[in-house]
Amino acid sequence: MAASCSRIALVVVALAIIVPAARAVDRTEFPPGFLFGAGTSAYQIEGAYLEDGKGLCNWDVFTHTRPEGIMDGRNGDVADDHYHRYMGDVELLESLGVNSYRFSISWARILPRGKLGGVNSEGIAFYNRLIDALWQKGIEPFVTLNHFDLPHELETRFSGWLGAGIREEFRYFADVCFRSFGDRVRFWTTFNEPNLVTKFTYMLGVYPPNHCSPPFGNCNGGDSLREPYVAAHNIIMSHAAAVRNYKENYQTAFSGYYVVPQAMEPAIMYVNRRYKGTPVYITENGYSQWSNASKEELMNDTERVNYHKGYVTYLSKAIRNGANVRGYFIWTLLDNFEWMFGFSVRYGLYHVDFDTQERIPRSSARWYQEFLTGQSNMTGEPRAWRADS
Ligand SMILES: *[C@@H]1O[C@H](CO)[C@@H](O)[C@H](O)[C@H]1NC(C)=O
Ligand SMILES: *[C@@H]1O[C@H](CO)[C@@H](O)[C@H](O)[C@H]1NC(C)=O
Ligand SMILES: *[C@@H]1O[C@H](CO)[C@@H](O)[C@H](O)[C@H]1NC(C)=O
Repeated sequence: MAASCSRIALVVVALAIIVPAARAVDRTEFPPGFLFGAGTSAYQIEGAYLEDGKGLCNWDVFTHTRPEGIMDGRNGDVADDHYHRYMGDVELLESLGVNSYRFSISWARILPRGKLGGVNSEGIAFYNRLIDALWQKGIEPFVTLNHFDLPHELETRFSGWLGAGIREEFRYFADVCFRSFGDRVRFWTTFNEPNLVTKFTYMLGVYPPNHCSPPFGNCNGGDSLREPYVAAHNIIMSHAAAVRNYKENYQTAFSGYYVVPQAMEPAIMYVNRRYKGTPVYITENGYSQWSNASKEELMNDTERVNYHKGYVTYLSKAIRNGANVRGYFIWTLLDNFEWMFGFSVRYGLYHVDFDTQERIPRSSARWYQEFLTGQSNMTGEPRAWRADS
């Protein structure tokens, strides 16, 4: 250990002498195979909410029945129309120079009515096309199974995460995904931010199905002091069931699994000690702007650039200090439907004009490309996706 530490220290000293102090961090400071990517989630970008056999999800129903619960009253019916434009979006990823892409699978597209309703082959086909398109560009898929959305039917039948029956539903959904995509997907995340799901869904009631009780809020029903714990228990049991099935039936020698979102240097070092060097992936880190900011601020997003530059610098330091971090995903590739904020906040590396679906690279997209490819390349600059191209 000491020997390798001193070797690392020597390398750092050598770099400090060769390289001017003000030099910006770049990709070469990260280990080979480190995943740099951008992330999205199904409901936030796909649109096509009733196409090709997809069932309604909890967010479809929530946004339609309670538009007053969304800041701008809008919904994800169309969102980024990624379902139809995924090929263009894969090209945007390629132009950035990322080697991984984090996205989620819409449960209601795969199992429109849950386990009993059968598998929707067109849903499987969509994710097959996406995964194959990514691999054709050398981009590794990093898949989230549950990013806040579930088939509305399961909300009705089990009261969502409150009913124990949802555990077998989730295990089955995960199994269908492992079986269908596992030959091309090595990285799986079961749940995105389960702590937020239980809090926003069952304590504050701002996510479907609007459950809470005073003093936390006035909802259609619910119990803010009890339901979050019931839901957390069922989510943990669902996660465990999916992991057990994965380990017993699908895991290969190379697979990564553990994902710890939103941790940076001190947090990473803590996780590193606590979990004894288990590989960590930063699956989500992003900077938001209000949609009503000026065009100049939205496009020349220097604060977002500085934000990511800062995190990436700390991350490289944590890695030099021995943290076993293996990936960093910027939230998000494209402006999208941001849950209860609707379209009134923007996190994208790409600005999206939701009237035309044009994607325009922000300064942050240019910065990320330069960081990843080591050059500011005017001909190879982040591609724009125009409505008519
Ligand atoms: C932008 O919108 C937010 C949220 O509605 C609001 O708080 C803010 O004052 C607005 N800013 C401007 C410059 O209009
Ligand atoms: C972007 O904004 C910064 C200040 O925030 C300014 O220095 C820079 O010139 C601007 N870049 C462009 C391309 O407008
Ligand atoms: C710029 O990017 C393009 C497309 O990615 C590539 O073909 C070209 O070689 C790059 N030019 C330089 C000077 O690196």
